[in-house]
Amino acid sequence: MARSTFAGYAPHPLYMERGEGAHIFDVDGNEYIDYLLALGPLILGHRPPGVTRAVVDVLERSGSMLGTNHPLEPELAERVVRAIPGAELVRFSNSGTEAVMMALRLARAFTGKRLIVRFEGHFHGWSDAIHWSVRPAIPAAGLEHAPRPLPAVPGIPEELAESLIVLPWNRPELLERTIRDRHHEIAAVITEPLMANNGCIEPLPGFLRAIREITAAHGVLLILDEVITGFRLALGGAQEYYGVRADLATFAKALGAGYPISAVAGRRDVMELVARNEVPYLGTYNTNSVVVAAAIAALDELARPGTYERLFALGDRLANGLRDEFRGAGIPALVQGLGPVFQLWFTDTPATTYREAVARAKPTFYATFQQAMLRRGVLFHPSQHEHFFLSTAHDEEDIERTLEAARGAVAEIRDRFV
Ligand SMILES: Cc1ncc(COP(=O)(O)O)c(C=O)c1O
Repeated sequence: MARSTFAGYAPHPLYMERGEGAHIFDVDGNEYIDYLLALGPLILGHRPPGVTRAVVDVLERSGSMLGTNHPLEPELAERVVRAIPGAELVRFSNSGTEAVMMALRLARAFTGKRLIVRFEGHFHGWSDAIHWSVRPAIPAAGLEHAPRPLPAVPGIPEELAESLIVLPWNRPELLERTIRDRHHEIAAVITEPLMANNGCIEPLPGFLRAIREITAAHGVLLILDEVITGFRLALGGAQEYYGVRADLATFAKALGAGYPISAVAGRRDVMELVARNEVPYLGTYNTNSVVVAAAIAALDELARPGTYERLFALGDRLANGLRDEFRGAGIPALVQGLGPVFQLWFTDTPATTYREAVARAKPTFYATFQQAMLRRGVLFHPSQHEHFFLSTAHDEEDIERTLEAARGAVAEIRDRFV
């Protein structure tokens, strides 16, 4: 789905052959500057030499997996615990979906409570338990202040609705009321710290702190789903960037820089349920040598001084440059998100919730721009609700070439829409 015409790729899906740094090459040999970055993992670009070397080394030295504990595991765990505020213990698996599943289970097991509060428009992986109300059709989704939980796809048992409360994001008063009224039933609130999966809506000032305070005051856990923000907004992810501390946080994507590894990290007393095997963290491929070696190399690279300053500076230049190309052509435009992950919106007022994003979305215009850029050698996701990713492999020249392409693309499409 993420790669098909259903995801918006038109007139046909793309077939790519190889990547190198910030560039990707299709099967016909065409080169593109890549802001899709494999949906986010490639924060160091394609084939970062340090990571590739670590993987080849471990394969030659010890093989792909051992099925026992091995010395690289604590090496990685120490790096994660050092980087992430609030991470006292950590466990690894292979996808963001698994990490979120585990965090939800841990929250329920630790609190002895059943309900999870999630926000409309957020994506937390595709397990039955949480793949709800991601991009619901508004007419079916109930009242704005009290959305009806809707399974994101057929095949999810309807009765799981009973285990969820869905709320609009960025509305602290609604969350506060819900938690005050039902805290004895609510195990956790799960949120993306930056609503990356619906066009990169930022938390309003004080919103994350409000979630933290109201949950802590009522014995409800806060799960930050940092699958996109982790190791991207800062080495310490959104917890460092926004100065908010989760009880549990989930990581994937940038952690492995292209290799399938994920993690749950958080409070010792909660994570000890795993350590004591009361809530076993299962998975044949968990902490296999390849992904652990890759993640160690990735984190060492990301920890170099200046990494995030440079990512933000380049990202801001690109985002503001794109916005200005549209404004210069008389088309309202703004940027939502942050340097390393952002989205362009064709409106004057930023969205703060999923429903506002739907109201402001210009999907056809956006997709037309995406196709015009693709023809000019720039790749990003065709959906208005996705985003641009930036990697450490992008450089000034990539940004300049992208903005030049945008100039041509805006001129080409302006006459068709304005
Ligand atoms: C915030 C968030 N959580 C969870 C997931 C699921 O991760 P994965 O695709 O690795 O299962 C994603 C994937 O995009 C995500 O963006």
